[in-house]
Amino acid sequence: MAKALSILLLGSGGREHALADKLAQSPRCRALHAAPGNPGIGRHATLAPTLSITDGEAVVAYARAHAIDLVVIGPEAPLVAGVADACRAAGILVFGPSAAAARLEASKAYTKQICDEAGVPTAQYRSFSERNAAIAYCDAHPLPVVVKADGLAAGKGVTVATTHTEARAALDELFAVPGACVVIEECMVGEEVSMFVLADGSAALPLLAAQDHKRIGEGDTGPNTGGMGAYAPASLFTATLQADAMARIIAPTLETLQARGTPFQGVLFAGLMLTRDGPKLIEYNVRFGDPECQVLMALLDSDLVDLLEACASGTLGSAVLRWKPGAAVTVVIAAEGYPGTPRTGARIAGIPEAEADGAKVFQAGTACDAAGQLVASGGRVLAITATGPCVTAAAAAAYAAIEKISFADAIFRRDIGHHEIAREAASGDRA
Ligand code: AMP
Ligand code: GLY
Repeated sequence: MAKALSILLLGSGGREHALADKLAQSPRCRALHAAPGNPGIGRHATLAPTLSITDGEAVVAYARAHAIDLVVIGPEAPLVAGVADACRAAGILVFGPSAAAARLEASKAYTKQICDEAGVPTAQYRSFSERNAAIAYCDAHPLPVVVKADGLAAGKGVTVATTHTEARAALDELFAVPGACVVIEECMVGEEVSMFVLADGSAALPLLAAQDHKRIGEGDTGPNTGGMGAYAPASLFTATLQADAMARIIAPTLETLQARGTPFQGVLFAGLMLTRDGPKLIEYNVRFGDPECQVLMALLDSDLVDLLEACASGTLGSAVLRWKPGAAVTVVIAAEGYPGTPRTGARIAGIPEAEADGAKVFQAGTACDAAGQLVASGGRVLAITATGPCVTAAAAAAYAAIEKISFADAIFRRDIGHHEIAREAASGDRA
């Protein structure tokens, strides 16, 4: 076995709790630190709650002081702020792309430029920095039309407008911010999948694909959120479609970034629309999806430390990827009010009971109150994750675990995995 590592994980969401849980299971993890973390992550790691994770110098100083061998960056904000660059410059191994490569997530207009250069199939689009020109363009184009903020918006800056009034309202809201840049796109039709590819600057290794449930409401209704649940594997993303997406979307993008002198090291997350003309790119993110990461970690059988170190050190070519059989489902429990202003402070109980039959309760917006009791402190609060022989069984196990959780302001969708559950019922695949 290769050397055991001391690892620093940055982030505080359900994604990072799932990563912490998996990292801590590895015989190669000597010590795990996390910043700022949350009470769930604190079950596996020494927390550094006051370390500013977007401050590269502070992260490097912490890593030096604690003899950290590998820094793992969960969310996009530190990546965009150049924390991976600061670590690399200090000679510390880091899982996560440079700020230059992270522009793929930070700027939709930049991504479109890369897509043009690389010939990646994506929606037709125009970028605007002026409101009236944007409105004139929308009015002249067929509906529905997609209106997006150019910068980071935690998955919530997108409106799929079915009327011109709705498009105008979205544009008015975005242009109310001084200096706003807005992208207007053709609306693509199909089912969405979240594709994840590990990359070390030259080699690339696709992971299982997942499906997210972005809308707040059952039946995929209501406003977009960061994600209300996910499942994997996504059977509609066949090996043929994966090979097609690798060849026409991922490989040309990675080659273009490399040719520009900004190679990508980390996990590239492609949101794909499976259209009648094949997979098309909706957007790139430069990190694991949340909650997709929770289902990927539930199914990953390989050692996560090996994989992340291989990305960081440019040795992914020799990495081995193994998955557990079956499927995983994660259901997000959010606080009343999400994706607007969530109600915080409700007490949470029942986690040990929910985990008694093998489900995992990953924590996101949680905190300990003065009495040491776990309370809700954010929009997405818990991600209840379970596995089973098929999606139908994994979803049943996740919902059985939720029954054990008591949390007054909880809202969650009861239909996570519905696309796949319908496919399993239709094909008689249900285990
Ligand atoms: P994004 O933040 O770009 O991932 O967009 C959030 C969600 O909006 C996506 O997951 C899609 O459901 C939807 N969306 C974004 N762009 C398009 C598009 N061009 N066509 C159809 N739906 C889109
Ligand atoms: N679940 C989608 C995202 O992480 O952006």
